[in-house]
Amino acid sequence: MIKKLLNFFKEYDSKDDKEPRSKKLFGLAALYSTPNEIITAAAKTAEKGYEKFDVYTPYPMHGMDDAMGMDSPKVGYVSFAFGLLGMCLALLMIGWMSGINYTNIIGGKPFFSLPPSIPITFEGTVLLTGIATVIGLIVLFNRMPDINSPLNDTDFMRSVTSDKFGLVIKADDQKFIDADIREFFRSGGAVDIQEIYYRETNLGIKTPLFDKKFLGIVMATAAVTAVVSYITLNIVLYQVVPFDWMWNQARINSQSRSDFFPNKAGMREPVSGTVARGFLPYEYKGMPDSSVKLLSNPLAVSKKVMERGQERFNIYCSPCHGYFGEGDGRMRDQFPKPPSLHNQKVLNWTDGNIFHVITNGQNVMPSYAEQVPVDDRWAIIHYIRSLQRSKNAADEDLTKAK
Ligand code: HEC
Repeated sequence: MIKKLLNFFKEYDSKDDKEPRSKKLFGLAALYSTPNEIITAAAKTAEKGYEKFDVYTPYPMHGMDDAMGMDSPKVGYVSFAFGLLGMCLALLMIGWMSGINYTNIIGGKPFFSLPPSIPITFEGTVLLTGIATVIGLIVLFNRMPDINSPLNDTDFMRSVTSDKFGLVIKADDQKFIDADIREFFRSGGAVDIQEIYYRETNLGIKTPLFDKKFLGIVMATAAVTAVVSYITLNIVLYQVVPFDWMWNQARINSQSRSDFFPNKAGMREPVSGTVARGFLPYEYKGMPDSSVKLLSNPLAVSKKVMERGQERFNIYCSPCHGYFGEGDGRMRDQFPKPPSLHNQKVLNWTDGNIFHVITNGQNVMPSYAEQVPVDDRWAIIHYIRSLQRSKNAADEDLTKAK
């Protein structure tokens, strides 16, 4: 597999080598083996008045521009022009948007003014400058990508991209005389001199821009891109909610039917004996009240507990038992009348007994375990005790109260 791939690239690489070369000379190329030789050769070439020549080195070489007698680079003008254009476009855009098309009164400020527009103007300037510099440098000044250069895929190119330094004087230079140049190359220490001929297939064509195949691919790509983006942006995105596979998954909503379970109920009951977190099951559930004598009130009496007990008693117990536990609540004649909580039986009971009645219920009185949490039950019991005490006050209580 890897071998096949390598072979493919090798063959692809040498494809242009096999293309027949014409008789038309592109230029004479010389290879030097040291950087000093190439710099000297470049300087001498410029000195001799050759204009159409170029230097190829495996790495950038300082001083080469000067040696070749090149003018200062022109790309700065392109950058400046496009930077100016970017600035104007940004200002125009903001001016039109906030000054004309969509005027908004914000704190009485002018629709368009310079200070708030600076950031976007700066961005626009920098954006166009950057793009223009890169494109100008590569495409405009270095004429890249030059896929059609006769130098491509020659031994000369292979040498200068690894360890040699090359110089090419083109055949269309006005001073081009074959013998002179060979002599000049040799005197400078050139290790190899090669003639580079144009390829037969692309003779005369600078860049195969209007190649049918190339145009076809560009047009096909444009068409496919347009259609796909149109469908994606206008149809697919409106019909498909992204990432909805968790939303639209096979599941049973609460309270709904399921054919999976024998009883057809979608909701499952907890395994019997399951204890909810933070909940202690009542250990005397369903037992006779004689068994709960040991339960004692864990809450210390305090004003807060008393007030809580009173409040809860008035809410949950008073409807039947009355505000003072005398069995004369508002449910009179609608529900069996409960006995007074001041009878001898309840007076003699432990707190555990009352707790048992609230938690477990007693005869017609239902359990209040669901409505009244454990601590509130004990608070209610404190309150019942105080009610009982108030109805059975002894003489010494009077002195205590003083
Ligand atoms: C729906 C009416 C109703 C409510 C509300 C109610 N009870 Fe009862 N309660 C009764 C009845 C009726 C009885 C008598 C049950 C029986 O026949 O043994 C009773 C009995 C009792 C007894 C035992 C009395 C005895 O002599 O056997 C206590 C203690 C008691 N209730 C406390 C409470 C407390 C505390 C609350 C509030 C959390 C409360 N009850 C809420 C109706 C109610």
